[in-house]
Amino acid sequence: MCGIVGYVGSKEAFPILLKGLYRLEYRGYDSAGVAMLNGKLNMYKTKGKVSELENFVKGKDTSGTIGIAHTRWATHGEPNNVNAHPHLSQSGKLAMIHNGIIENYASIKEELLTRGYTFSSDTDTEVLIQLIEDIMVNEKTDLEEAVRIALNQVVGAYAIVVISKEHPDMLVAARKGSPLVVGIGEDEFFLASDAAPIIEYTKDVVYLNDEEIVVVKKNEKIRIKTIKNQLKTPYVQTLEMNLSQLEKSGYAHFMLKEIFEQPSSILDSMRGRLNAREGTVKLGGISEYEQKMKNAKRIIIIACGTSWHAGLVGEYLFEELARTPVEVEYASEFRYRNPIISEDDIVIAISQSGETADTLAAIELARAKGATIIGICNVVGSSIARATHAGSYTHAGPEIGVASTKAFTAQVTILTLMALRIAEMKGTVSKSRFHQLLSELEAIPNKVKDALKVDDQVKELAKMFIYARNFLYLGRGYNYPVAMEGALKLKEISYIHAEGYPAAEMKHGPIALIDREMPVVVVATNKGTYEKVISNIQEVKARKGKIIAIVTKGDKTVKELADYVLEVPETEEMLVPLLATVPLQLLAYHIAVMRECNVDQPRNLAKSVTVE
Ligand code: G6P
Repeated sequence: MCGIVGYVGSKEAFPILLKGLYRLEYRGYDSAGVAMLNGKLNMYKTKGKVSELENFVKGKDTSGTIGIAHTRWATHGEPNNVNAHPHLSQSGKLAMIHNGIIENYASIKEELLTRGYTFSSDTDTEVLIQLIEDIMVNEKTDLEEAVRIALNQVVGAYAIVVISKEHPDMLVAARKGSPLVVGIGEDEFFLASDAAPIIEYTKDVVYLNDEEIVVVKKNEKIRIKTIKNQLKTPYVQTLEMNLSQLEKSGYAHFMLKEIFEQPSSILDSMRGRLNAREGTVKLGGISEYEQKMKNAKRIIIIACGTSWHAGLVGEYLFEELARTPVEVEYASEFRYRNPIISEDDIVIAISQSGETADTLAAIELARAKGATIIGICNVVGSSIARATHAGSYTHAGPEIGVASTKAFTAQVTILTLMALRIAEMKGTVSKSRFHQLLSELEAIPNKVKDALKVDDQVKELAKMFIYARNFLYLGRGYNYPVAMEGALKLKEISYIHAEGYPAAEMKHGPIALIDREMPVVVVATNKGTYEKVISNIQEVKARKGKIIAIVTKGDKTVKELADYVLEVPETEEMLVPLLATVPLQLLAYHIAVMRECNVDQPRNLAKSVTVE
């Protein structure tokens, strides 16, 4: 959802900004732009990806030790050269980049138009920078104060960075609802949407809070104040991320790397938390709230996208193990339907990025109604992580491919640990069963390694389906969310229409779609409902659909019925999502690669959706 980078210091700004944009391209990639000061303000913008910007500026003046840069995911105005950021003020002295949406931009624009301002773009961003200049002129304030006054007038979300021709050594930035990190180097500062562009220069960072303004000036200390004019002491944190986590390490795509990282990312999610030998599950982050979770009358899980699918697995886990009723809600629906929430409710918010606007708003609503909020986030220090009462980080490492893979399995791992811990406290599982499940969970990373061995087979299989127009994914029980997640992966990156369905529901509608052209992926690893899944496969076969079945190693019956089978190792039914998801991720990946789609940056999508 737009990536922003800023630099001020003694080095040439442009190479730092450009590299930063590449690192943030997962956030949006429909247009890009950059502005540097060197006496003059040189600004270059293009439609398309960062590489197009790089080509466009070749041979042009990019000198200067201060600058700002942006990679966009369009909200207001189509992606084109004019709507790309930065945007200039009327005088051309100020330039600004922005992530977020200014909701009341239309009324501000109208007012500015009556006062003779002209606009070259359709963006809300241009309105905000004009407003800032208008305040500077009319109220005779400096830039910092004008930014502060302007931000008190706007409604919406923003992370902004402003440069001014009159201050060739200063950046003014602010955030509300969209993330912004300040990197503190030696006599130099970096600003970015996340730490990825900063990591190779410094590990000292300050995460800005909502409604804070930061001023960074060469040879001066960082200054932070709120938009209500209260000074704040910057809280400097040390980054734990390392550079290799941000690189492809020999893989063709980040997505493939992240799929193959799952044995270690799942292990990292469990590290220090699960001890099968001692028979313990410890989640330090939620220990203070465990009692409350144990006594909860109900758990509501809120999330979006892939994280919502992890939430569905969580529902099955908590109900089966801890016998607590669970509702799983799309955050966007939850927040607008006046939900019934009480102080006895536990809300679990799941988010890879920790920045999803709908999830954040849903948390605020539930908090205001007195619920206890537990977070499951991947990005440390993210807005959602900070908005919850307590939580457990997934520790899956940075996920860069837009289609979420390792974050999903890490979320499911944390949900499993949480459900097991609460079940242990409630006494809803026997001691021996508890120990058995812990040992099996501990074995999962190695079994994922095994599950990944189908890669070559999936590659062959993918060839058969690159021209398919539709796919159906079916599963029952724990495999129903797996089917939905498999379908989502395929449509996100290959643009083939795919639907995930509870297998038994197929006969109430989707069965009408089945003919010899229709590939149907059936996740058929179930133990409890094995016979039922077989009946569903028969129903598809009777209509000549092509069956791709995910089966447990050694399965015979499904193998005979299915056109193609992919095996995963045997495990406990409730842990199957951690294994059965893997071949589905690979299937989507290989089909998308063969269709020559941009796997890591699929069209129209963004990794982190910080707008509604
Ligand atoms: C976007 C991403 C999805 C992700 C969803 C929720 O749509 O493209 O991959 O699942 O947001 O994101 P979150 O960061 O809250 O898990």
